[in-house]
Amino acid sequence: MKIPKHVAFILDGNGRWAQERGLSRSKGHEEGYKNLRTLSKYILNKGVKVFSIYAFSTENFGRSKEEVDVLMNLILVGVKKYAKELAEENIKIVFSGIRGYPLPKEIITVMDEVEEKTSNNTRGILNICLNYDGQQEIVDASNKLVEEVNNGTLKLPITKDIFNKYLYQELPPIDLLIRTSAENRLSGFMLWQASYAEFYFPKTYFPDFKEKDFDIALEEYNKRDRRFGKIKED
Ligand code: IPE
Ligand code: IPE
Ligand code: MG
Repeated sequence: MKIPKHVAFILDGNGRWAQERGLSRSKGHEEGYKNLRTLSKYILNKGVKVFSIYAFSTENFGRSKEEVDVLMNLILVGVKKYAKELAEENIKIVFSGIRGYPLPKEIITVMDEVEEKTSNNTRGILNICLNYDGQQEIVDASNKLVEEVNNGTLKLPITKDIFNKYLYQELPPIDLLIRTSAENRLSGFMLWQASYAEFYFPKTYFPDFKEKDFDIALEEYNKRDRRFGKIKED
C-alpha cells in the first residue's frame, strides 16, 4: 500500500449533517471538531507526513456573527487542547492564512504559541488553514518576493522551488486531496500545492467520515495512475 506523503482535507458538510438531524449548525461544528481530533491522529499514525486541513476560509467570515463566534470558540479551545496531545506525539503544528484581522487576537496568540512549542517536532506536520484563501496566499508570496528583489536580497529569476519557500508554509506537494459532502470544488484551498493532487470527493458529511472511510480513500488512491504528464511504462 502506497501512503501519500501529503494529505489535504476540506472538512465540509457539518452544517448539513446537523440540519438533517434537526440540530443547530453549531452542533454540527462541534461534531466535526470532535471527529477531526480522532481522524487527524489516525491519519498521521498511518505514516502520512503532512496533513493539511481547511478549518476556516477568509470567506467564512461572511457567515452570521453567531456561527463565526461558535467556530472561533471551537478553534480556540480545540487548538489549545488537541495541540497539546499532538505535541506529545512529536507532531509539529503550523498555520496557513492571514494571521491578522478579523481573526480574534487571542487566537493569534495561541497560534504563535503552539507553532513555537511544537517547532522542533519531527514525526509529522499538521498544517491548519485558518483565515485562508489560496489566491491570497499566492499574492502574499509574490509581494514578499518583490520586496526582496527590490531591496536586493533576492535575485531574478524566481523558480518554482524558490516561490514555494515564500508561501505561508514550505510544504511538499499534495498527493491526496479529500473533500467531504459531495461538493466537487476547491473553494480556494491550496491552489499552488494541489497542482498534481489526486482528488477524492466522498458523499459523506464530515462528522460521519471515520477511520474506515479514510482507509477506503487510501485504497482508491492506490488505484490511481499518477503519470505526471508522462506515458505509463509497463
Ligand atoms: C464545514 O462545514 C466547516 C466550515 C466551513 C468552517 P459547513 O459549515 O460548510 O457545512 P455545510 O457545507 O453548510 O453543510
Ligand atoms: C470551504 O467550505 C471552507 C472550509 C471547509 C473551511 P465552504 O462550505 O465554506 O465552501 P463553499 O461555500 O461550499 O464553496
Ligand atoms: Mg460547506
